[in-house]
Amino acid sequence: MTAARHGAGDFSVHAYGELDSTNEEMKRLAAAGKAGHGSVVRADVQTAGRGRRGRVWVSKPGNLYCSFLLLPRRSLNQSAQLSFVMAVAVADALEKITGGDRAVTGKWPNDVLLRGRKIAGILLETVSVNPEGEESEGIVAGLGVNIAHYPEDTAYPATSLEACGIEGQTPETVLRGVCAAFAPLYGSWLGDGFEPVRAAWLERAAGLGETIRVRFGEEDLSGVFEGLDGSGALLLLEDDGNRRQITAGDVYFADTALQRAS
Ligand code: BTN
Repeated sequence: MTAARHGAGDFSVHAYGELDSTNEEMKRLAAAGKAGHGSVVRADVQTAGRGRRGRVWVSKPGNLYCSFLLLPRRSLNQSAQLSFVMAVAVADALEKITGGDRAVTGKWPNDVLLRGRKIAGILLETVSVNPEGEESEGIVAGLGVNIAHYPEDTAYPATSLEACGIEGQTPETVLRGVCAAFAPLYGSWLGDGFEPVRAAWLERAAGLGETIRVRFGEEDLSGVFEGLDGSGALLLLEDDGNRRQITAGDVYFADTALQRAS
């Protein structure tokens, strides 16, 4: 594995041809003291790309596969909010690329949709870092954005920029857009906490105020999506009047004609 290094604003990008997973490579670099805050690993292809809940993330050439190393020095509970910071950054970047017609939305917890279909996913993991020999905990924020292709057989329907008629983008151009959007949002999160990010995420939240389904393991809940609490948990008013704070699960929208029954 050889990596070319170049800068992207506040970020230093290590670009590879093929990796097992950019999250894995970032963990290796971080553990070896070879990556610091703001390092980004990008690969043209992943042979073992993974999504949330151990799902496979199909990673053929043409899409963006990258991982950011972040050392926020916050509790793990707070650091988990970085998935929303990244989701808002990706949505901002895609809105610029697609011409800002408000077709970009967020699906809880951190999927980004274009015209109601999933175009990007985020996988946050923790990592041991070794800056100057001092062991501490960092966050790897892995991001996949569908540019040239998308998987057909997913429980929630997907799309790509090209499938939506947006040509001329590459993994490099999309990554530059994400880096430019992420840097100020990360600064605001560090300085002002979760509230501005939460508000920005809610502005584009798909299904807000509507009846949704949330599935987690054997649980299949239905209710009105009322918002996010101060930690990023989904607030659900169940059909029986019960209020729940949901911290993990997959959201499905009741009225989405696109959605496959699964
Ligand atoms: C999801 O929606 O399930 C999260 C998908 C995250 C995929 C990205 S691609 C780059 C990084 N490396 C991985 O192995 N996964 C993440």
